Amino acid sequence: MKAIIPVAGVGTRLRPHTFSHPKVLLNVAGKPIIGHIMDKLIEAGVDEAIVIVGYLGNMVEEWLRKHYSIKLTFVDQPERLGLGHAIWMCKSYVPENEPLFIILGDTIFDVDLDAVLKSPFSSLGVKEVADPRRFGVAVTGGGKILKLVEKPDTPVSNLAIVGLYFLKQAGQLFSCIDYLIENRILTKGEYQLTDALQLMIENGEKFTTFPVQGWYDCGKPETLLSTNEILLKDHKTEKEYHGCIINNPVFIAENAILENTIVGPNTTIGENSVISNSIVRDSIIGNDARVTHIMLEHSIVGNNTTITGNPHEINIGDFSEIRVG
Ligand code: UTP
Repeated sequence: MKAIIPVAGVGTRLRPHTFSHPKVLLNVAGKPIIGHIMDKLIEAGVDEAIVIVGYLGNMVEEWLRKHYSIKLTFVDQPERLGLGHAIWMCKSYVPENEPLFIILGDTIFDVDLDAVLKSPFSSLGVKEVADPRRFGVAVTGGGKILKLVEKPDTPVSNLAIVGLYFLKQAGQLFSCIDYLIENRILTKGEYQLTDALQLMIENGEKFTTFPVQGWYDCGKPETLLSTNEILLKDHKTEKEYHGCIINNPVFIAENAILENTIVGPNTTIGENSVISNSIVRDSIIGNDARVTHIMLEHSIVGNNTTITGNPHEINIGDFSEIRVG
């Protein structure tokens, strides 16, 4: 089975980190976001990933080629014209009569994909949310989806479509996106995948939903940190560090150095980082960081960063240097 993973976006909500890294390569619980996604897909039997790249796409390609041996195809989306357009760019790579799985590149999930991929109908992953205005939503009835609405201003359903899509036959989806593009049908300025799926429903395709309980958004600093916390649960380091206290759960890269430091809980420390005389909790520290004499919580620290002093809560990007007296 082929899976499409669109990751062409700029990731503005995760600046400054996304100035130097594509969103999907940000580390959460010890590996990049896209690493979590790929591992789940491969476990479920996906044997080819079609990755739609754009912003800093060569970094994504390099990382994936280095770490995975399944068939990888990279498709460039030079202009970000929306998710529908991104998927449409893959048309020539997916045979019309084959099933297809699509997953957004900033969604880490915990779902029994085996059951989903065996479904007799096309099916969309949904989750009940308190405020559906930020999402595409599914209106259901009689065991199927009656209608999809992209970011509804008036609440028609609280079943949000959370970024996992199973299509029984890829061809029908591509024809519907063709129709949107030929007729320049845009919603909120973009060719929307939700609009193409709605067209499929209007053309008679039966869609069901599957519940996504484990859905971990990584699109904003606060959700990246809460996802880090959730994924680290049950993650323990047994290694002892001289003069340090480790409050599990934590992920500490094998070659990180800790001295006179308290780490955790809910903390990821990246490769080659040195943390000394500090307290770090509920945080993500990137690779090659130097953190000294500081108390950090709810913080995201980029790669190649030096921090000394005692700020309390920060969100800084790669190659930064902060000294607080
Ligand atoms: P988002 O709407 O979250 O966009 O797209 P983004 O660029 O990643 O993040 P922000 O909003 O600027 O902070 C959801 C997913 O769809 C992909 C994105 O890369 C992301 O994985 N996408 C979206 C594309 O590949 N192409 C598009 O035209 C739009």
